[in-house]
Amino acid sequence: MKTPKFLLPIATAGVLALTLSACGGGGGGGTTAGGDAEQGLDSRGPITYVQGKDNSNVVRPLIEKWNAAHPDEKVTFKEQTDQADQQHDDLVQNFQAKNANYDVVSVDVVWTAEFAAKGWLQPLKDKMALDTSAMLKPTVESASYKGTLYAAPQNSDGGILYYRKDLVPTAPKTWDEMMSMCSIAKENNIGCFAGQYAKYEGLTVNTSEAINSAGGSVLNAEGKPSLNTPEAKAGLETLTKAYADGSIPKEAITFQEEQGRQAFQNGKLLFHRNWPYVYNLAKTEGSSKVKDVLGMTALVGADGPGASTLGGHSAGMSVYSKNKATALDFLKFLTSEETQKFYATQGSLAPVLGALYDDKELVAKLPYLPVLKTSIENAVPRPVTPFYPAVTKAIQENAYAAIKGEKTVEAALSDMQASIESASAGQ
Ligand code: GLC
Repeated sequence: MKTPKFLLPIATAGVLALTLSACGGGGGGGTTAGGDAEQGLDSRGPITYVQGKDNSNVVRPLIEKWNAAHPDEKVTFKEQTDQADQQHDDLVQNFQAKNANYDVVSVDVVWTAEFAAKGWLQPLKDKMALDTSAMLKPTVESASYKGTLYAAPQNSDGGILYYRKDLVPTAPKTWDEMMSMCSIAKENNIGCFAGQYAKYEGLTVNTSEAINSAGGSVLNAEGKPSLNTPEAKAGLETLTKAYADGSIPKEAITFQEEQGRQAFQNGKLLFHRNWPYVYNLAKTEGSSKVKDVLGMTALVGADGPGASTLGGHSAGMSVYSKNKATALDFLKFLTSEETQKFYATQGSLAPVLGALYDDKELVAKLPYLPVLKTSIENAVPRPVTPFYPAVTKAIQENAYAAIKGEKTVEAALSDMQASIESASAGQ
């Protein structure tokens, strides 16, 4: 995917800087989708909604509800796998083929820039505008590109440290505190800590969290990679050392979200980094061994709470959709207060509507909501760039090699730096 052909058109369009503030305004869209964005705006009819595996069992009930109320504009669910990278590649292939049947698609926050720059997402402005005033700012920013909204914020995501309340007397606040509790895991013959370390998007999430939580950053304030720093080194070292000494169990090198969740639910981990969706499943699945001992706290950092990577998904409308008026109504349905409450209560998915985090009824049911809101508001976005596939590849491959001990931490970080620089130089 990191080919000159991919990078060149974007580079010539002048979108060179990797920047965290790219969505702050100005630019007014920058890209046009050509004629496709003008087509089908008033048309109604059946549409398809494409999303990754519905682990939380929320999509089907929502679609049933929509379909009952819209017999002539029914939504069909096209379910992808549960792996972030496969979901991305499937969307890219279908956009490239101009597939009119991928009407509304779930867009990971890190794909917005790429898909918008390619002209695949219908800009949500003018006639297609969507009101985002009640939504958390980071969710709106991560669904925007160059000041234009390209997708409807749908679920936010912030990392959470799950732990075993029965074995951990007081939740740790720092990485060292957590590591000092690994003796408890040993005594109980279980793994100490795991996040997601397979070579895919989740490893970029976990690597960025390790770096940010140690006071470093993937990009500096100017939007340039800043990986050759003592803080970034200290951050990546937390993972490499813990993997080398077994505090992170060896099998975690194959973990995506679902494998980690299973290990934790099966009682095989003392601490587990994952997203909020785990709460509902760990509490309700029959096979869960941690139902009554589920602790949740902020991620840990060097001197106090760590910094989560901002995750989440937005619902984007394909420019190739033939029924955009229906698609827009469906986006509004997905972002409505009722749907957002349903996502939270049914799937413990993080709402995009700020007020729901203070909603008494909801907080009574999901007591961690205020903590989650803080996590999301302080979460660090991943680089915002149309060349994101090359950037994430640089982070994943080098972090993976360092964790496995195949590269030193210094070499991994300096290779990451070089690859991100060359991706942003449009080579
Ligand atoms: C979650 C997050 C998403 C992230 C992915 C990595 O789905 O919401 O932002 O990229 O995990 O696996």
